[in-house]
Amino acid sequence: MYKAKAYAAGSASSPLASTTVTRRDPTERDVQIEILFCGICHSDLHQVRNEWSNVMPTVYPCVPGHEIVGRVTRVGSAVTGFKPGDLAAVGCMVDSDRTCSECQAGLEQFCPNLTLTYNFPDKHLGGVTYGGYSDGIVVDEHFVLRVPSNLDPAGAAPLLCAGITTYSPMRRRGVGKGKKVGVVGLGGLGHMAVKFAHAFGARVVVFTTSPNKKEDALRLGADEVVVSRNADEMQRHAGSVDFILDAVSADHDINAYIQLLRRDGNITLVGAPEKPFAVAGFGLLFGRRSLSGSLIGGIPETQEMLDFCGANNITADVEVIPIQKVNEAYERLLNADVKYRFSIDMASLKSE
Ligand SMILES: NC(=O)c1ccc[n+]([C@@H]2O[C@H](COP(=O)([O-])OP(=O)(O)OC[C@H]3O[C@@H](n4cnc5c(N)ncnc54)[C@H](OP(=O)(O)O)[C@@H]3O)[C@@H](O)[C@H]2O)c1
Ligand SMILES: [Zn+2]
Ligand SMILES: [Zn+2]
Repeated sequence: MYKAKAYAAGSASSPLASTTVTRRDPTERDVQIEILFCGICHSDLHQVRNEWSNVMPTVYPCVPGHEIVGRVTRVGSAVTGFKPGDLAAVGCMVDSDRTCSECQAGLEQFCPNLTLTYNFPDKHLGGVTYGGYSDGIVVDEHFVLRVPSNLDPAGAAPLLCAGITTYSPMRRRGVGKGKKVGVVGLGGLGHMAVKFAHAFGARVVVFTTSPNKKEDALRLGADEVVVSRNADEMQRHAGSVDFILDAVSADHDINAYIQLLRRDGNITLVGAPEKPFAVAGFGLLFGRRSLSGSLIGGIPETQEMLDFCGANNITADVEVIPIQKVNEAYERLLNADVKYRFSIDMASLKSE
């Protein structure tokens, strides 16, 4: 075992602060990674503040972070896909049983014996897993991804959660040429959804509460931008959208979006607000519309997404910050004031 530097929250109301955590020595199947960059996902903030206490109560101290890109420093004797010096990435998952039907289908995120990257029972060391706000991590090779060499590591880190979470449902729903796609909420997830939907050839409409994001949305690949607080602008799209991805982190009226779907249209939730939604059933009945959810993506699809990003030169638009600015970044995230993902430069941990 060895000590790694990290930033942790000690309680739901305390700021994140410098600490050390224990990492295991790599077993024969493990890859040891020096973390270069870690994105800040809104899920980190939900978890740190224990906003999901009914589903996944937070164990403190909590070291968040599941958008990890780093350099391999050591590999176990049975590791075949990585060697020291390689660029490597880790997303939301670090372990699963590999034998259940979900794992066999490459959908590890639904494995009953899944281990998430942070705040999940650690099978090796006891306690809970600690995430990517750290200078190092040790992960089973199966959960380590390859990063195309043409991608900027700081901008590639957010692909590991924001990227796969938006790529997966849009691929599954056949987003592409001839389809009109809505993206609700232009944050970390939303801006990746716009980039992917545009790259897949769809017509993209962004729904935002922030009028000042309009030009960015068009630059990112949107064909149209609707300020969702304007009822007239919303009404213009009624009954016309094939697929909507809802990536909003806070309470909002989902019925206003269900009305925009055409017959058999689907709205998929990826946003995970603290409080349950009120859904008007008639909005779904008329038009035979459907409401679904989606959770990240499996390991094979995550690699597929990274390779797609490599081939199409897609990364997140990031604001790179030192770890010392993480608490300020959380406040800005709450105010929808980030363009469009914070990526923490872990070299800044060296001075702690
Ligand atoms: N399903 C999954 O697997 C998965 C994976 C990752 C994250 N998530 C969840 O997805 C959500 C989004 O994550 P993120 O990292 O993209 O967050 P984010 O960067 O904070 O973006 C959220 C966006 O939602 C909009 N928004 C914020 N408050 C709002 C309000 N009160 N009413 C309406 N719109 C509001 C804002 O967009 P505008 O300014 O454009 O309105 C904001 O930029 C979070 O709940 C996160 O936990 C789920
Ligand atoms: Zn995330
Ligand atoms: Zn399994």
